[in-house]
Amino acid sequence: MNKNRQMHIQEEAARCLFCWDAPCSSVCKKGDPARAIRAIRFGNEDMAGQWFAECSDEDLEAAGRACIHYDRPIRIRELAHMSVDACHSSLDASHRPLPSLAINFCGIPCENPFFLASSAICTNYEMVARAFEAGWAGVFYKTICLQEIREVSPRFDAVQQEGQADFYAFRNMEQLSENPADLDFDILRRLKQDYPTKVVVASIMGQDEEEWMELAKRAEAAGVDAIELNFSCPQMRLTGMGSDVGQNPELVMVYTAYVKRSVSIPVIPKMTPNITQINKPASAAFLANADAISAINTIKSVTMNNRAKVSGQIAISGLSGRAVHPIALRHILEMAQTPMLSGSLGKKVELSGIGGIDTWRDALEFIQLGCRNVQVCTAVMQYGYRIIDDLILGLENYLAGRGINSVEEVVGESLPNFVGPTDLDRDTIVYPKIDRDKCMGCGRCYVSCMDGGHQAIAFDPVTRLPRLVGTKCVGCHLCRLVCPSGAIGTTKRIPKK
Ligand SMILES: Cc1cc2nc3c(=O)[nH]c(=O)nc-3n(C[C@H](O)[C@H](O)[C@H](O)COP(=O)(O)O)c2cc1C
Repeated sequence: MNKNRQMHIQEEAARCLFCWDAPCSSVCKKGDPARAIRAIRFGNEDMAGQWFAECSDEDLEAAGRACIHYDRPIRIRELAHMSVDACHSSLDASHRPLPSLAINFCGIPCENPFFLASSAICTNYEMVARAFEAGWAGVFYKTICLQEIREVSPRFDAVQQEGQADFYAFRNMEQLSENPADLDFDILRRLKQDYPTKVVVASIMGQDEEEWMELAKRAEAAGVDAIELNFSCPQMRLTGMGSDVGQNPELVMVYTAYVKRSVSIPVIPKMTPNITQINKPASAAFLANADAISAINTIKSVTMNNRAKVSGQIAISGLSGRAVHPIALRHILEMAQTPMLSGSLGKKVELSGIGGIDTWRDALEFIQLGCRNVQVCTAVMQYGYRIIDDLILGLENYLAGRGINSVEEVVGESLPNFVGPTDLDRDTIVYPKIDRDKCMGCGRCYVSCMDGGHQAIAFDPVTRLPRLVGTKCVGCHLCRLVCPSGAIGTTKRIPKK
């Protein structure tokens, strides 16, 4: 699809409020504009046309009028026409046989790699049951402990871009399950009994060896498939719990070893990102025979919004959501590149990737770095379990487009691309190339290059067109990143002079 058109479609779709029981779809006799707009927002822009295609022009007009957007209605008819055109060009891909998303994780067959992360999105039977019905392959259930949990109010804060409802980042002060442990274990038992093909993982947190062992044994007795060890909550009220453990490789090793000795199901320690080298605690867990490692939990942070103050006060607590995604990838990469964890001793630790997964592309990035499983929290808190539709659809179409039959084939495929900074090619250069036909004359490239680059763009005030000054350009590509219209591309990579 033409880049400008794609950006326009995405911008418009991003304004959608993603209503529950969306009025725009309710007024259509056929078709489902709300589903189509969700597909665009969640990375399936090429497939959106299939939900728009059945809507008549009259329906689309009515859908636009029914839109309850507080500012101006979404231009549904325009979106539909652009999407249906784009959909025709991708029909080829959609007719290919669908690849399999089934994947083994710790020897457990999973129908797809998408799991709910232990958090507010899975704190009772009904929630998890609805998520399973929606298509999630499994759950890492809300962390169970033996202490009484008393949460604060409010519990959450969000970092949003001006004028946008979406969370760019999300801060939570929540601790562990507020249910009595007996109730939670009974919920896990019922979930496994009623949904035998879904994967149920108990997340637990003890205060000492005895508690870790007791919780692990009770989880196994409840019939769960695996146990996640929460070594990573950054806002525990009691010291010596949560990320206090994850920051201490010795404790990680001791507690993992105790749990491993107590149960025979797979054990998955969950790492904290609040540490310089995640591979140290991860290696300690590996030496204690952990079957897999999950990462990351939330990143210690502060937001200063009044709306998040608890009786006028603020405490450091965990950040999640889109902003943490690159940091999570870095931690996964560091573990995947650690020889001991990636098979040098004959056994390889499996990875479960967590952090800022919003679309199938985010999930794919974790998988390409070696994760056999991914977990989602903040995106579900914002948009609901329904995002599983686009996670599955997008990943299936991506694999089909590459002629790949199984998601297994892409696990770890990006790892060979990663080198240390010393090994990066520093002898060649790629220059930006300005497409004057696409340029809108906004001058953003000029401003950024003048004040944040190498003064290598000249701007003609009459024609309002930028021009590259090749002798000054260092090929940093800041101009390309700030260009709002996709008018800056690249030339071929050539040796530096
Ligand atoms: C409200 C909230 C509650 C959470 N509770 C837990 C928990 O009980 N146990 C746990 O291991 N992680 C917990 N987490 C961390 C998430 O499981 C996940 O690691 C983190 O949010 C990053 O993923 P995300 O960016 O998809 O949200 C919680 C996160 C949030 C936002």
